Amino acid sequence: MTKITAAITAVGKYVPEYILTNKELESLVDTNDEWITTRTGIKERRILKEPNQGTSYMAIRAAQDLLKKSNTNPEEIDLVLVATATPDMPVASTAVYTATKIGATNAFAFDLQAACSSFLYGMSTAASYIESGRYKKVLLIGADKMSSIIDYTDRATCIIFGDAAAAVLFEPNNEGLGLQDEYLRSDGVGREFLKIEAGGSILPTSEETIKNRQHFVHQEGKTVFKFAVSNMADVAEKMLTRNQLSKEDIQWLVPHQANKRIIEATANRIGLQEEKVMINIDKYGNTTSATLPLLLADYEDQLKKGDNLIFAAFGGGFTWGAIYLKWAYNTQQ
Ligand code: UT7
Repeated sequence: MTKITAAITAVGKYVPEYILTNKELESLVDTNDEWITTRTGIKERRILKEPNQGTSYMAIRAAQDLLKKSNTNPEEIDLVLVATATPDMPVASTAVYTATKIGATNAFAFDLQAACSSFLYGMSTAASYIESGRYKKVLLIGADKMSSIIDYTDRATCIIFGDAAAAVLFEPNNEGLGLQDEYLRSDGVGREFLKIEAGGSILPTSEETIKNRQHFVHQEGKTVFKFAVSNMADVAEKMLTRNQLSKEDIQWLVPHQANKRIIEATANRIGLQEEKVMINIDKYGNTTSATLPLLLADYEDQLKKGDNLIFAAFGGGFTWGAIYLKWAYNTQQ
């Protein structure tokens, strides 16, 4: 019997209209376009301004874009996963609401949280359900409204993050295409360096926590940067060596978009030229769970059936890893 592999068969995306430029950030904090561009590669990011709307607003639209483009009937979807660090609410799953709103009435749904590695871990989860033969259509959405947890008086974080959502559909494949290998890691030592301190079970919300601005993301940028550079490069290299792939065998590196310098370090380690590295950090900044599928959506037209893609991500927790995936379709022009 041929082994069932889990292939990505469709992608979709949604980015909010509002563009927060480096210039506008100059009016909020002590920073400048030159510093942000040279240190991060970011020129602008999108911000969801719709009143009383959260992550599901974007997740629903990304999913609808995918359904429309691929002509998929939402009633055929078995499972909806929303990878997110910014759910609509702490309790009441964003994925459940999203599934209902897109008409996935025969699906079960849940959220998955692993900071900037959420989508990578979600790929592993979605693929496992398909490979097991238990489900046929798994919709994985990466979505984050980072602007809801960013302190726009903190120049160390507010210049980095943006809002977005993007989605992929996983389906069984019998040509050997789709997810080939994964190497996922985590280390709890990292939670001191990138976190939201309050609002959880250790430190529930109080007047004090609000006054101390403890509901915003806080990161020790330099430390996170060092861990990200060495770990993302390590796992990307491991994917190549473990699968006996040379740099010539790789068509695309799909790296988490946290900092252009981290992306370059990862690409350099595996010897990949710039043309083979997907980048959109200049337009969107770090959209946390949305970066990887947003890259796929932006580069979909350039991807060809059989292309070898290496995904790599690093995020809070710490969480990180790499996935080797063979692209399963050519986009019809
Ligand atoms: O996706 C989840 C994982 N997150 C990441 O991977 C983020 C990793 N970290 C980073 O990308 C970088 O560490 C940052 C972009 C956050 C910061 O860049 P850096 O090159 O590590 O800068 P730094 O924190 O070492 O600061 C260098 C200098 C400092 O000034 P002094 O002490 O040298 O005078 C900072 O105060 O730059 C200053 N600085 C800024 N200046 C202008 C820090 N932020 C800013 C800013 N504008 N926004």
